[in-house]
Amino acid sequence: MIVAGDSSPLGPPSSSASGADLPAPRPADLLAWYDAHRRVLPWRTAPGAKADPYHVWLSEIMLQQTTVATVGPYFQRFLARWPTVADLAAVDLDEVLKEWAGLGYYARARNLHACAKAVVSRHGGRFPADEAALLDLPGIGAYTAAAIAAIAFDRPATAMDGNVERVMSRIYAVTDPLPGSKPKLKALAAALVPEKRPGDYTQALFDLGATLCSPRSPRCVLCPWMAACRGRRDGLAELLPLKAEKAAKPTRRGVAFWLTNARGQVLLRRRPESGLLGGMMEVPSSAWEPGADLAYARALGWAPTAVNWQRLPGIVRHTFTHFHLELTVVRGHLDDDGTAVEGVWCAPADFHDQALPTVMRKVVAWARGGGKD
Ligand code: ADE
Repeated sequence: MIVAGDSSPLGPPSSSASGADLPAPRPADLLAWYDAHRRVLPWRTAPGAKADPYHVWLSEIMLQQTTVATVGPYFQRFLARWPTVADLAAVDLDEVLKEWAGLGYYARARNLHACAKAVVSRHGGRFPADEAALLDLPGIGAYTAAAIAAIAFDRPATAMDGNVERVMSRIYAVTDPLPGSKPKLKALAAALVPEKRPGDYTQALFDLGATLCSPRSPRCVLCPWMAACRGRRDGLAELLPLKAEKAAKPTRRGVAFWLTNARGQVLLRRRPESGLLGGMMEVPSSAWEPGADLAYARALGWAPTAVNWQRLPGIVRHTFTHFHLELTVVRGHLDDDGTAVEGVWCAPADFHDQALPTVMRKVVAWARGGGKD
């Protein structure tokens, strides 16, 4: 039975509140499992080899954004272009944004670049090993600081991501819901981090969460901590962690203006430096608001110029962290080269050179397909 506000003890308990004794989970068992079953990942070193803090940092920032499978090629491309943090610090932000395009949440890419510069200017191009000094760098929060300290410097830090929260909530049968249970889960996780091989232990937890202790169908019989798992004993493993209901995301609307000129080029422009997708390129678009349609966009002068705008059928949809976006795409044409219009004229064949975020790549595909994918 799930009891809201369950009082799972802090610190590794040897028995749970509800009865029969179970052994405590042993980090050594998890490490032995890791030695036999660890995933081979592009940013991972061989067992026993020292990890490069730059590689660890880069992979951790990317992994906050998307899946291990998606990160692989991005990680390799970044390293091929910028083998050291000093190389990354020395390039234009625009180059970084272009290479990041497709990973989403571009504030992370800006912070990535700012962090590289700070590592060079404040620390002589070497990442600090200390969690507090790491936390002080742009774009490095509690999770990333702990992950770098543990994986790159073998410090006993507690890196809490979704995988680790899930594993802890199951091992200790924590039934109060996320996000309120985060401090309790972190305290439970911190009490388990071993003095020996904390970096491997941290990655072992990630692997356990990603491969066996998965969200929907945990493969408990293969788990090195099965005998210690209170969630399994209570028949709760796959229900945990419980989550408080989230508010539904609102929907905003907008109009994207696909304007071509006599040379077959398309008008792009740079978004303002601050705000969503700051500094990225876009197909000029109206503000994104709940009721923004073409009439509204025209009335407020959002169209880049006055031409006969034709609406393409259908809608381009994209979901951001805090809202859904529905964009109507309209098409217009100029019989001259369009130099009087503010923006950058770009041939579609050269779009790959532009820092176009995913939502704008969808608009491009939609417009070029005439309103069909
Ligand atoms: N998820 C977050 N960080 C990770 C890492 N270093 N290895 C595998 N999965 C991860």
